[in-house]
Amino acid sequence: MNAGDGPLSYVQNSSYQRGAIDVAKPIIEQEIATKLDIKQIYSNNPNGICTIADFGCSTGHNSFPVMQFITQAINRKLEYSSPKIPEFHVYFSDVVTNDFNTLFSSLPPDRLYRATAVPGDFHGRLLPEYSLHFGYSAWSLQWLTEIPKAVTDRDSPAWNKGEILYRGDKKEVCEAYLEQYSRDIESFLKSRAVEMVGGGLMAFLVPGVPEFWNPEIEYTIPSYLNLLGSCLMDMAKQLLLVHVSRSCFIEMLFQGRLSKAKVDSFNLPFYYPAPQQLKAILERSHSFTIERMEILNNPGKYTLPSANARAAFFRACLERLLTNYFGSEIIDELFDLYRKKLSASPVFLNPDNDKSIEILIVLKRKTD
Ligand SMILES: C[S@@+](CC[C@H](N)C(=O)[O-])C[C@H]1O[C@@H](n2cnc3c(N)ncnc32)[C@H](O)[C@@H]1O
Repeated sequence: MNAGDGPLSYVQNSSYQRGAIDVAKPIIEQEIATKLDIKQIYSNNPNGICTIADFGCSTGHNSFPVMQFITQAINRKLEYSSPKIPEFHVYFSDVVTNDFNTLFSSLPPDRLYRATAVPGDFHGRLLPEYSLHFGYSAWSLQWLTEIPKAVTDRDSPAWNKGEILYRGDKKEVCEAYLEQYSRDIESFLKSRAVEMVGGGLMAFLVPGVPEFWNPEIEYTIPSYLNLLGSCLMDMAKQLLLVHVSRSCFIEMLFQGRLSKAKVDSFNLPFYYPAPQQLKAILERSHSFTIERMEILNNPGKYTLPSANARAAFFRACLERLLTNYFGSEIIDELFDLYRKKLSASPVFLNPDNDKSIEILIVLKRKTD
């Protein structure tokens, strides 16, 4: 995610993700009130310690309101049932390159908790055994640990030539992505199973796609990413034309910057499941039960009113990844072209055509 809080930052360009929080809030509060097992909070310490973690917190501005209402909801539950209000600890977790400085310099002063940074990959162990009472993760589990190998293998039927993400019409590519996603969610759950106390809860907000939608007249988050892929391809083709008609020197200069082969070999490490796909993966877990699953019909869809806002949103999320692969020189041109393509597309400009969904899942750690 783009660091800091400037005009291109994630802080300033992530109101889309925030759209779901108001809808998710009463559901999560209700689950805490009715299902969180609070005995564990006092089991190791008579004064009580309650631990909450956000996995994939980024710069924190979307996380803070959630951590606030989760601590308040647990507090309310304890007020009626326990003599002592526990000490709340919130672990803000993200990859080691995350901008934790921006997060820690903007912590809300009226928070009810002590805050700790936990840098690391959430597919592995991050927290002490048997210590976590409530886990949360929003808009982060779509991130794969690696690109499925078959997708970059020229000899495989799943080779994803000319695209940067799966498309519905390439079955083998979709399957390779789904397999990787399943493996990653399983690793995530395996680690959380060790860290969570029995009876603890976990809430996920997972960006996804409906079971059925029509890619001719509708779109979802993967469609936006495929459109970005077409911009990369256009840029590579443009550069090859220059290569045919200009001098050899220009050819080498431009080809080094963005070649078609380079675009062919690039794939995005994201997967956006349909609800049944996610449910099937979660049901395989021996450690958690699914307590609640709600489909939120794109609560953020009116938060990106213009092509500019949409391009800025994707740039804030993808710039680092693209820069690491293609270099920073192409980024302005790429997102300028992307903005133009979005503006020229009546399908993408009408928010009612956006069929993206968010899946809200609440899991409970089984008691061993
Ligand atoms: C789109 S942001 C979501 C941020 C925030 N949760 C929100 O709702 O706005 C996804 C975050 O997940 C983090 N992330 C992705 N893969 C991760 C991993 N394997 N381990 C830890 N964090 C990861 C990214 O670094 C990024 O900050």
